[in-house]
Amino acid sequence: MRQLPARIHYPDAAGKTPHPMDSIYRSALGTTFRLGYEMHMTKLLPLSDENIAFATSILRGGGLVAFPTETVYGLGADACNANAVASIFTAKKRPEFNPLISHVATIDAAFALGRKTPIAAALATAFWPGPMTLVLTREDHAPIAKLTSAGLDKIALRVPAHAEAQRLLTTFGGPIAAPSANMSGKISPSRATHVMRSLAGRIDLVLDGGACKSGVESTIIDCTGERAIVLRPGGVTRDEIIRVLGAANLDPDTGNPPGLEINNAPVSPGQLASHYAPNAALRLDVETAATDEILVGFGTTAGSGKQPFTLSATGDLNEAAAKLFDLLHQLDALGAPKIAIAPIPETGLGEAINDRLRRAAATR
Ligand code: TXA
Ligand code: MG
Repeated sequence: MRQLPARIHYPDAAGKTPHPMDSIYRSALGTTFRLGYEMHMTKLLPLSDENIAFATSILRGGGLVAFPTETVYGLGADACNANAVASIFTAKKRPEFNPLISHVATIDAAFALGRKTPIAAALATAFWPGPMTLVLTREDHAPIAKLTSAGLDKIALRVPAHAEAQRLLTTFGGPIAAPSANMSGKISPSRATHVMRSLAGRIDLVLDGGACKSGVESTIIDCTGERAIVLRPGGVTRDEIIRVLGAANLDPDTGNPPGLEINNAPVSPGQLASHYAPNAALRLDVETAATDEILVGFGTTAGSGKQPFTLSATGDLNEAAAKLFDLLHQLDALGAPKIAIAPIPETGLGEAINDRLRRAAATR
């Protein structure tokens, strides 16, 4: 496994003072960074038509709603709203941008977002709606935020069977990005009370649908190659998959996707090459760029250009997370040969942003 460069420590480790709401840190550099995390009054409400309508309005406004599926509770956000998706990472304190599963109501909705292959179609017909997630090549026009798939050109899609999850998806009318509704590193929640214990004060709403039937997460199957690969075992078994596809169409090995969590511990943080890295050479922690570099600013460090490239002019880490992959793609499209990135603090979402940037800089 490739070694990551050592973490960069900012002087604010000594000098930072948490805001009473735990949302603002003043660093020793004298800059104020908003972490994008504010205290939420988390409502716990039973599933009903009225509360599903309320949940939908929260999602449309960019908020976070935990909801039951037949596997585990998911922490949902509008998958097409990068800021909302960034809030998922903040709320879960996920130290890296693991790609998220987008949930949709129907098989057709899934294949409008990810490329349908014969293998994917066979699996969808057999196991959707249900405890299965397919990893597919993202369709060019898919409106899913780049952060949802952590900048990858493959997206994970699931059509859950849970009746109330279905109702929420239909009422919302678009894809909902949802990892398991637990703090990073903790076990997945199979009851609303588990979600509250883990995330109360950090999200807007928990829809209580009682205990999840299975409690085991969905089986994740990559369908982008010639043979299907089980990336994570789950609710649909290998034997069931073979019965549908035939043994020849299923890779006997378990794949090792980027950042996949098994028992909630990332097993492959070293799969750097699979993550999106720009074509340009990337230099981090730069306050003054060399003449041949394009500088991407953050906070008080202004970027290059008439309309300066910046992850966030106000030093908002949530905004920076939401923009990160889009901006790297945009600079690649411009053919930028060398990109320099302003220092990003290691607080809050900054840890995930720096993790991704270091991987992108190391992948050569
Ligand atoms: O049952 C489930 O799958 C639950 C419910 C809420 O749907 N969700 C869930 O999400 O377990 P999460 O985020 O805890 O785990 C999803 C895993 C992640 O570890 C991620 O690495 C992998 O799916 N994944 C997502 N998108 C991927 C992609 N494009 N390529 C490879 N792996 C991907
Ligand atoms: Mg999880």
